[in-house]
Amino acid sequence: MRRVITYGTFDLLHYGHIKLLQRAKLLGDYLIVALSTDEFNLLEKSKQCYFTYDERKKMLEALRCVDLVIPETCWEQKKTDISNFKIDVFVMGDDWKGEFDFLKEQCEVIYLERTPEISTTKIKNDLMK
Ligand code: CTP
Repeated sequence: MRRVITYGTFDLLHYGHIKLLQRAKLLGDYLIVALSTDEFNLLEKSKQCYFTYDERKKMLEALRCVDLVIPETCWEQKKTDISNFKIDVFVMGDDWKGEFDFLKEQCEVIYLERTPEISTTKIKNDLMK
């Protein structure tokens, strides 16, 4: 079984997220999403989420393409996650291109093209107008 992992916040789940997750799943048989906790988002990414970790987790778990959701609590956990969960493919959107090439010694690293013109930030900004 080919196991795939990806990381992110996935707040205000939108079609850019869904397309990324569907394409990630197609790279293997089992997709794990490491979902940034509220504390990690706030302290490390300066992101205040609209939905809580538990709400974001439930939405991801409801998707057919997602098999398991685990918490992302720090930047350094990727190497241990890849080893603990026996990951074959590490996937990120191409906004992170090159950032995780150091993981290539452990597994395949793939950057998928982002869906244009949609993001959580854009949704928040549009609703403020
Ligand atoms: N993603 C994507 N296409 C988009 C938006 C996001 O493929 N239009 C991907 C990102 O590249 C990442 C994953 O979805 O691999 C989770 O991204 P996240 O940062 O949670 O979503 P954004 O909408 O980019 O959120 P923000 O605006 O807060 O940065």
